[in-house]
Amino acid sequence: MWPHLVAVIIILVSVWLWQRIDSYRVFKKMGINGPPPNLIFGNFRQIMSQPVWMAYRKWEQLYGKTFGVFFLNSPSIVTSDVDFLQEVFVKQFSKFHQRAIPNSIDTEDEETHMVFAKGKRWKRLRLISNPTFSSLKMKQMAPLIQESVNSFIESMEKRCQEEKPFDIHSDFQGLTLEVIGSCGFGLEINSVRDNMSPFLAACRKAFSASLMMMTPMLISELFPSLTGLAKVLNKYLTRKRVHDIDVLVSAAVQSRLNDPKSRRVDLLQLMLDAKTDNLDSTVPQAMTDSDVVSTQQGGETGQQNDSSSSPRKFTQKAKLTEKEVQTQCSTFLLAGYETTSTALAYAAYHLATSPEAQKALQEEVDQYCTEEGPPSYETISKMQYLDMFLKESLRLHPIAPFGPGRTAQESSTVMGVHIPKGMKVRCDVYSIHMDPEHWGPPDPSLFCPERFTTERIAKRHPMAWLPFGAGPRNCIGMRFALMEAKMTLACLVKKFSVETCAETQIPLVHVASSTVQPEKGVTVRLTRRHVVANNSEE
Ligand code: HEM
Repeated sequence: MWPHLVAVIIILVSVWLWQRIDSYRVFKKMGINGPPPNLIFGNFRQIMSQPVWMAYRKWEQLYGKTFGVFFLNSPSIVTSDVDFLQEVFVKQFSKFHQRAIPNSIDTEDEETHMVFAKGKRWKRLRLISNPTFSSLKMKQMAPLIQESVNSFIESMEKRCQEEKPFDIHSDFQGLTLEVIGSCGFGLEINSVRDNMSPFLAACRKAFSASLMMMTPMLISELFPSLTGLAKVLNKYLTRKRVHDIDVLVSAAVQSRLNDPKSRRVDLLQLMLDAKTDNLDSTVPQAMTDSDVVSTQQGGETGQQNDSSSSPRKFTQKAKLTEKEVQTQCSTFLLAGYETTSTALAYAAYHLATSPEAQKALQEEVDQYCTEEGPPSYETISKMQYLDMFLKESLRLHPIAPFGPGRTAQESSTVMGVHIPKGMKVRCDVYSIHMDPEHWGPPDPSLFCPERFTTERIAKRHPMAWLPFGAGPRNCIGMRFALMEAKMTLACLVKKFSVETCAETQIPLVHVASSTVQPEKGVTVRLTRRHVVANNSEE
């Protein structure tokens, strides 16, 4: 009996080993180099032992711009080759329309939001949501943002009077939550004034990194036959994590449904309007991949075509279920809160550490923002240096570099490399953003907004700047985030100068959680500016 059992075990282990070793040959067969994988964990341990972008940068230097790694069982191509990315993200989008996400995420479930949704379901969600972020809607939402920015500047007055160093990142979190709460759903969160707001705490909890959240991914990767179980577990853990936010958003949806007179221009209303079960409801035509491409390319200019004003409209039933409306809204809330506040924190760091650039920005603000209160959407759009400043800060600190990745939905050939169905292609954003071929001179590690003059942008590859990803599946909230960040920065430097202090971490150290965060926040001091009538400082 025992000898038979041992023999069976030896055979099973040998088959498993043979399959494993064979699966690791996949990149060799494709002619792609990469770090040698561990028999059980692939390259996962190397990836987890340091911030992933550092691992990518090292491997890029060893194996070239395109290399292969194994996230446990899953083989992924990682690349900083901008032409390769142009193929995957734009030209061959129809074959790469799915995000590169763990198999433990159920992409078909009604509760799956746009970020993870797949195929036609993703297209429908994206289509219905696209007009919400048009420039027309941004203009309409601008007054709501201005209100929250006003409260923020009042709170900065207090900070300035106190003359004490403070972590401005934390204050920006309060601001961006209030903005997305108000523009999103008419929620009065008051997180600017109340840094201990329970809602702010709920959002911080939703973003805190937790090993537990990785369990479903580990299960599905190490034991693919248990993927079903991993999906159930993932759903349970996610629900638990975002429960407080869901309750609040759900209440906002219900109250709007119960009181149709409370209509206002915000994300929720637009989602509900798209939800109407009316066969005559119209959405912009973008059901083919090429159409989605043409309506969504923003590139370096940060401009998306205004899909709401597209002349090509067709009639179709565009119905979101109530649950979908709620899920989309919660997603916008979470996506809009942490990313934008972190972008502002990095910009504040550069205001403090690059006094020359801060002065240039203040001069532009003094020239354009002559009225009291936050500038209008139109004024913001004219301020070129502000745009350059923010883009350079986002280049040095891409907040969501893990976002832009795609999964092959069918086998295809990209620049001579045959990519099998199911393989993931990930973007090595840091290496691209630090590549002297795109960004030098001066040295790409230096902060220099002049890299974003119109002439220099025109000469640069469209995939060289990727803080918001690229192609039809880029960040839908880019225009919203840029408007909010620009309004805030303009108001901040109009009244104050941001300065370093002993507590400022220089250089900043990045740490990875759901996004890339400054390790110790961004501690600064504010001093009041005294601008006299002829716009020169006293
Ligand atoms: C500075 C702020 C922000 C940054 C840096 C950022 C970054 C990103 C990145 C890198 C992606 C992945 C893009 C790709 O795969 O090509 C993404 C996707 C997304 N972002 Fe943002 N984001 C920001 C703000 C926002 C805001 C304000 C919202 C909503 C109000 C938002 C909603 C989304 C959604 C829904 C997606 C998924 C789009 C899809 O799969 O179709 N983001 N974002």
